[in-house]
Amino acid sequence: MLHVLNHPLITHKLAIMRSVTTGTKDFRDNLEEIAGLMAYEISRDIPVKPVTVETPMGLCNTFEMAKEIVLVPILRAGLGMVAGILNLMPTAKVGHVGLYRNEETLQPVEYYAKFPSNSPGSVVMVLDPMLATGGSASAAISSLKNRGCTMIKLVCLVGVPEGVARIEADHPDVDIYLAALDEKLNEIGYIVPGLGDAGDRIFGTK
Ligand code: PRP
Ligand code: URA
Repeated sequence: MLHVLNHPLITHKLAIMRSVTTGTKDFRDNLEEIAGLMAYEISRDIPVKPVTVETPMGLCNTFEMAKEIVLVPILRAGLGMVAGILNLMPTAKVGHVGLYRNEETLQPVEYYAKFPSNSPGSVVMVLDPMLATGGSASAAISSLKNRGCTMIKLVCLVGVPEGVARIEADHPDVDIYLAALDEKLNEIGYIVPGLGDAGDRIFGTK
C-alpha cells in the first residue's frame, strides 16, 4: 500500500532539496532530517509488548517495542538517509545492498549485499531517496526476502506512479512510504520534476 507523508515540515525541506541552487551540505542535511521525520511517522505501527517499569514513584505498566529495526540503505544514495533515522532509533542495525542502474537498460545490477543476522525477525526499512522505475527497490526487497525477511517497508523521498506500480506488482505485501509522488519519468528514467541525481547531489560526484 502507498502512503504519501504529506506534512508541512517534510514538504518544506523537500522543496529545499529539489532546488537546483541547493549545494551538497544543505542537500545532505535536509535528506537526513526528512528521513528522521519519515521514520517517526512510519514507526507508528511497529508492534509493542507490555512491560513493567519501576519509576522513582512506583510501578508503571507500559509498553516497549516488540520488534527490532534493521535499516537497509540502497547504495549509494540510501546512505544519506541512515544517520537521520539512527538519531531516532539508535539501536537499529544496518545492512547494505549495493545496486546501480545500467544506464542503457535501466536494469538494476547488485554488486554488494550484507545484512544483520537479526534481519528475518526484524522490521526492515529499505531506504532510497528515489523510486523511479522501481527496479532497484524491487531487487533490494527480493534480496531481503531471499534471506527470510518478511516485515519490509520501503522508504523513499520521491517516487512516480511507474515505480509504485512496479513495487505493488512485485511485492504487494510491502508498504511504500513517500514524501512526494511526482508526475512522471523522463525518457532517460529520471523523475520529473524530482530532484536530479540523488547520489551525485549527496556525494558531490558531478
Ligand atoms: C538511483 C537511486 C535509486 C535508483 C532508482 O541510484 O538512488 O537507487 O537510481 O532508480 P530505479 O527506481 O529506476 O531503479 P543509481 O543507480 O543512480 O546509483 P547511485 O545511488 O550509486 O548513484
Ligand atoms: N535516480 C536518481 O538519482 N534520480 C532520479 O530522478 C531517478 C533515479
